[in-house]
Amino acid sequence: MKIENVKKLIDEVAAFTAASEKEIEEFRIRILGSKGELKQLFAQFKDVDPSEKKEYGQVLNELKQAAESRVAELRAKVSSKDQSEGESIDLSRPVNQKKVGSRHPINIIRNRIIEIFHKIGYEVSEGPEVEDDWHNFTALNFPPEHPARDMQDTFFIERDPDMALRTHTSSVQVRMMESQTPPIRTISPGRVYRNEAISARAHCFFHQVEGLYIDKDVSFADLRQTLMYFAQTMFGEDTEIRLRPSYFPFTEPSAEMDVSCTICKGDGCNVCKYTGYLEIMGCGMVDPNVLENCGIDSKVYSGFAFGMGVERIAQLIYNVNDLRLYSENDINFLEQFRSSI
Ligand code: PHE
Repeated sequence: MKIENVKKLIDEVAAFTAASEKEIEEFRIRILGSKGELKQLFAQFKDVDPSEKKEYGQVLNELKQAAESRVAELRAKVSSKDQSEGESIDLSRPVNQKKVGSRHPINIIRNRIIEIFHKIGYEVSEGPEVEDDWHNFTALNFPPEHPARDMQDTFFIERDPDMALRTHTSSVQVRMMESQTPPIRTISPGRVYRNEAISARAHCFFHQVEGLYIDKDVSFADLRQTLMYFAQTMFGEDTEIRLRPSYFPFTEPSAEMDVSCTICKGDGCNVCKYTGYLEIMGCGMVDPNVLENCGIDSKVYSGFAFGMGVERIAQLIYNVNDLRLYSENDINFLEQFRSSI
């Protein structure tokens, strides 16, 4: 091995550059590794002419030092480059917009309804969607074979004639009255099912929010005031309400509540069919029979109940006139609704 060759290698080492840790490591192994060039050169030391041994030893040491310091230098360079890259963040660069989901419009409206009643002391309660006859009908004053059962087309469970998909959230009223002692103030949001042909105006499932208030001396005036508060908070302070006599087996007297049309403000338009009003819920004073069925003394307590369709209210707030859109999961439809709740 010629001393000149080692010197050449020293020059090569000094000139070596690398941009990555990997390249530096490969270089280190090639020169300084246990099977590297330096090792081989040292192995040849014994064959070197004695007169040259001294110089040969020196250049080998020089090579070793040059390689070690070059490796250290390059490593320092690469890692400082990494750091400076980390620091130079361009804050004005447009970011990759991550798609964050949006709440479903039905959930937005449901949450708003909950919030409005929460402010006047109502708790939230829930019940099962597959319900027995007692909670969906019998306890609510629909005796067996009573024609009022046909008011709602029911999906029955084939295996068990006593079970059905609940047709309304009034079943949760029964569960609450059975399990709690008055005063009771609760709202029950949930999904309900009816055997109806699917169209723009009807669906086989939809959502309701039920309200129930039981205490001593609860009157129809309390019901009216509560619903007025709700309507004005939901649709705006200038909203007017109208209660029309109606019939439900579980309330007496019963009423249907209309709000002044959210589009024309009562002047008459095609949304309200020129009546100036839109129907949004059923309500009434809880029938004493229902209180007794649920173990509440009707001589001591009275109360009111109401039930509203969430899709109906969402339609009025968002001006959506096809119910089917709410369950088709079309992202272009769903993306339009933004909410903080
Ligand atoms: N459950 C009734 C319906 O689904 C609405 C209602 C609830 C009426 C509470 C009166 C009291 O149509």
